[in-house]
Amino acid sequence: MNQTERHGLADRLISHLRKKPGQYFAWEKLASKLQVERAEVDTALVLAAEWEYKLRVNRTKGVKFVAAPDLLTSTEVLHGLKTRRLGRIVNAYRIVKSTNDLAAKLAEDGAPEGVIVTAEEQTKGRGRLGRNWFSPSKTGIYLSIILRPTFPPEDAPGLSVMTAVALADTLVKWRPGLVQIKWPNDIWINGRKVAGILTELSAERNGIHHVIVGVGINVNHQAGDFPEDLRTTATSLRRELRRKVDRVELLRLFLYNLEKEYDSYQQNRLKKSLTRVRKYSALLGREVTLQSGQTRRAGVVKEIDRNGALILQTATGLETITAGEVTVVKPRV
Ligand code: BTN
Repeated sequence: MNQTERHGLADRLISHLRKKPGQYFAWEKLASKLQVERAEVDTALVLAAEWEYKLRVNRTKGVKFVAAPDLLTSTEVLHGLKTRRLGRIVNAYRIVKSTNDLAAKLAEDGAPEGVIVTAEEQTKGRGRLGRNWFSPSKTGIYLSIILRPTFPPEDAPGLSVMTAVALADTLVKWRPGLVQIKWPNDIWINGRKVAGILTELSAERNGIHHVIVGVGINVNHQAGDFPEDLRTTATSLRRELRRKVDRVELLRLFLYNLEKEYDSYQQNRLKKSLTRVRKYSALLGREVTLQSGQTRRAGVVKEIDRNGALILQTATGLETITAGEVTVVKPRV
């Protein structure tokens, strides 16, 4: 058996065992179900143990499934994933510099739309505006998705808002009522950042080659895990809920929500999502300053339009802004 066949066999073994967790499957039946020799079942078990599955092995009774690992492996992400295209091919790593860089490389080499890259840890996780993204091992979700939209490059900026809506729709399952989007691509819970989006575009004038949607979610970080400078501004789901959250379940739901939003974005941009964009917005009606490149503007946020642009009421009139860094000036009264 080559490596791919061994991986495939271990996947099939795990899927079969988890149909009846806690129940022993007899050796002979298992081998005949998987259509392999008994010795090959052993090989698959070794691999499953390497992947950190908890299986109980008994010489007479056989094998039983005890627990899946708390890891974003391909087998786990695909188990029960409800999407048609997004995440159907998973490149899962233990440690990488940046999942966005790996996904860009895959896209340049021709990887199709929907391929994702996940990592348990990033050593050079990248945030917006050249910042770092804090990416400690086995606590967060570090994910990059390859998209290949056929719409023109000028419609790409709205993809960040689209992703933010899918992310907010996902996180409300764990923290209803308290999730907000800070335009264009930060997610807040209780006024602290829980997730960020880094969308990177490869395009020329007449078309998009690919878009890498990078998403970092603080899931199981404890308060003390964050470096001092982030402790007051960043949070995690665990910090908010005071319990651990199943990262794989969260990731699967996010991919499902993102696929729905992406389908809708391709048809009508943000038209069908605008009610939720407004509902989640941390900025609508707020007095803000906005830095885009060397330009600094001040005004009140009037609207977010169907292309994801921010409409700002300034002293000189309404301005449509597609990118920038917003700071809220006045707290809501
Ligand atoms: C931000 O808020 O500044 C955006 C953060 C984006 C972080 C994610 S983690 C997965 C992907 N890989 C990266 O290097 N960055 C994005």
